[in-house]
Amino acid sequence: MTVARAATPVGIIGMGNVSGVYLKTLRAFPTLEVVVCADIDLERARAQGSRFGIPRAVPVAELLADPSPELVINLTVPAAHAEVGAAVLQAGKALYNEKPLAIERAAGRALLDAAAGAGVRIGGAPDTFLGAPQQTARRAIDSGAIGELTGVAIFSTREGPERWHPNPQFFFEPGAGPLFDLGVYHLTTLVSLLGPVAAVSASARIAPTPRVIGSGPQAGTSFAARTPTHVSGSLELASGLPGTIMTSWDVAGSELPWIEIYGSKGTLSLPDPAEFNGDLRLRGSGEKHWSVVPAVPAFAEAGRGLGAAEMVEAMRAGRPHRATGERAFHVLDIMCALYESSEQKRQVELQSTCERPEPLPLGWPDLGQDVAA
Ligand SMILES: NC(=O)c1ccc[n+]([C@@H]2O[C@H](COP(=O)([O-])OP(=O)(O)OC[C@H]3O[C@@H](n4cnc5c(N)ncnc54)[C@H](O)[C@@H]3O)[C@@H](O)[C@H]2O)c1
Repeated sequence: MTVARAATPVGIIGMGNVSGVYLKTLRAFPTLEVVVCADIDLERARAQGSRFGIPRAVPVAELLADPSPELVINLTVPAAHAEVGAAVLQAGKALYNEKPLAIERAAGRALLDAAAGAGVRIGGAPDTFLGAPQQTARRAIDSGAIGELTGVAIFSTREGPERWHPNPQFFFEPGAGPLFDLGVYHLTTLVSLLGPVAAVSASARIAPTPRVIGSGPQAGTSFAARTPTHVSGSLELASGLPGTIMTSWDVAGSELPWIEIYGSKGTLSLPDPAEFNGDLRLRGSGEKHWSVVPAVPAFAEAGRGLGAAEMVEAMRAGRPHRATGERAFHVLDIMCALYESSEQKRQVELQSTCERPEPLPLGWPDLGQDVAA
């Protein structure tokens, strides 16, 4: 017999832009309820909280002292992820951080250690690997659709966000740039589908030309980037598979794909890994054209926050969650190692690793009933 259980109380710290996307995703899940939110800017928390019917908007310290939330979702800016995340864990609550887990390796490692010490779970974005294209890719790879794997290539190349964002300086600070802001999605996809990375080598550079703001009150103002704007490198996966990475905001135009996975019988081409939708395409060995791989049944309202919702289900069911802190840390470690390799002009071996997550059950999520019987 299925026993109705109360929803798991959840809190959110950081009620800026992305919080609305999270709240839309989370409200589809009867297994959880966002009961409290906080922000360093309390007025913002109040306004966004009332827009989404969150019962309480409070200062951060009050949320941390509140015994009710079992999981806190940290949607603050990257530079605050480590400090806010550490406070959540210290309060004895499970933590789900937006990406990147932290902006420095030591701070990310400290979060994993703090979670282990407190005996609570830690999870982290990106969670787009739970979306239909990537779950379809996972099943295609596991079923041998492209044969024995031979390599992987990931690309995120475009012009910089200073062209369209009215206040873009933060995109060019440490903790952002094309690698930490967008490459993080590609690397999370790669690691989720193919397993951990063992070593990297790279060349990374800050383009010498100043960035010129293209819109808003600061239009025409120029500023200097403080983090690499073009990163080109190679990845050696723990499985032995060779990989290529390029992330750049210095590319006017390109015809590079997002992610390609190569095998003895064909190539898989994935859509933008920062999204939950798009077609997965396959081109078999000897074929002249690409064909769309029929997608696995998927959650129509998939969006950012899915990883946190899956984490709550896992907590309730007493099983491992999929968007783990270990993977978020491994991806942070890869990104830091790419920069280190470029600075030190050598290959860098990674000390961290992570599990390849189980594919989602077909038809997940079952929103009609609880996961516990
Ligand atoms: N905006 C997007 O589309 C998007 C997409 C994917 C991921 N993200 C990630 O989500 C996170 C938030 O992005 P955003 O676009 O919502 O940023 P934002 O600047 O709009 O919102 C961040 C919020 O965090 C609050 N904040 C900052 N420091 C804090 C602290 N120490 N304590 C409490 N609150 C604090 C700010 O006041 C602000 O309300 C970032 O990590 C970003 O990488 C954003």
